[in-house]
Amino acid sequence: QEDKQESNQHETLRWAARLFHQTLESDAGRAAYAYLVGKRGLEASTIRKFGLGFAPEAWEFLLDAARRDNIPVEQLTALGLVTRHRERNSLYDTFRNRIIFPILTVGGQVAGFGGRTLSNDPQTPKYINSPESAIFEKSKLLYGMHAAKNDIRKQETAILVEGYMDVIAMHQAGVTNTVASSGTALTRYQAKILKRYTSRVLFLYDGDNAGKKSMLAGIDILLSEGLTPWVVLLPGGDDPDSFIRNYGKEAFLEELESEKSSFQDFQLRCYRDAGLMENPDTASKAISAMTKSIALIADPVQKELYLEELSKKLDLSRQTLRKVMASSNDDRA
Ligand code: GTP
Ligand code: MN
Ligand code: MN
Ligand code: MN
Ligand code: MN
Repeated sequence: QEDKQESNQHETLRWAARLFHQTLESDAGRAAYAYLVGKRGLEASTIRKFGLGFAPEAWEFLLDAARRDNIPVEQLTALGLVTRHRERNSLYDTFRNRIIFPILTVGGQVAGFGGRTLSNDPQTPKYINSPESAIFEKSKLLYGMHAAKNDIRKQETAILVEGYMDVIAMHQAGVTNTVASSGTALTRYQAKILKRYTSRVLFLYDGDNAGKKSMLAGIDILLSEGLTPWVVLLPGGDDPDSFIRNYGKEAFLEELESEKSSFQDFQLRCYRDAGLMENPDTASKAISAMTKSIALIADPVQKELYLEELSKKLDLSRQTLRKVMASSNDDRA
């Protein structure tokens, strides 16, 4: 019974994805298509590869299509594709005037959607997602994983970015081992998915403070799941998608090569840039955070080597760092 219901839901999601995609490629999607090609630099083949779609600016576009195709409306409400207006007790489409990003499971089934508005109204949220449900658990999904998994395995590295458009732009640029955590902080569950394909993860989040903070947090998640994090910090206002559009694919690939740093160098750089290493009080807290990260590493040799590295970089003895590590372990207990 439950399995049947779930497979129906997946069918309905696939139906909606197809409809949104067809709409993007039809007259009704002309402006949206022009935006993706003209403003975002997407090729027709990329739009097809990711099954991008368009939800028109109408209250009952999906509802009408469901009535026509005999899709039970309750399924659309259960999936959050349609929302109930409480006071009026009426139904309306959740995604309106939005570019649609189907979010697939690792196995390639549609689990839900992200939608980016085409409106310039500052009141309208830039992105919305399908609401959380048994089928759509955002914290357990990685955008682009279905398209990226084979290349992640082949290249023995996964590249992790923030946004849908970042994944798409990077795949179009030939960097096909890229997935996104979709704006949320990286979760343990997502790290476990990555671990099935590789042990190395390269963070390439937006080069702003929010991006830096998320990478610092993500580093500890990865380390505690037995993965080795690497980081590329993009210049100030850029994310991978805008970097590629601003400076071109060649410059981007060059940046990936030349700016790659170990998680430890990245941590140290963040703490130095924030001025924390300039006085003993804040430096001690920063160093404690770095030894906490090392303590998360299960492999004893790696752990020792990172400690050794840190000792050289800070010009502090390993013995001192071990003491810091031990006392921060006590803090946690
Ligand atoms: P573009 O302007 O289309 O390039 O957006 P972006 O992807 O660069 O947006 P941003 O860096 O602000 O956010 C990165 C990712 O976080 C997005 O791709 C979304 O997955 C997610 N996100 C951003 N803003 C929101 C929001 O308001 N709501 C939700 N649910 N997700 C968001
Ligand atoms: Mn983006
Ligand atoms: Mn951002
Ligand atoms: Mn962007
Ligand atoms: Mn961004």
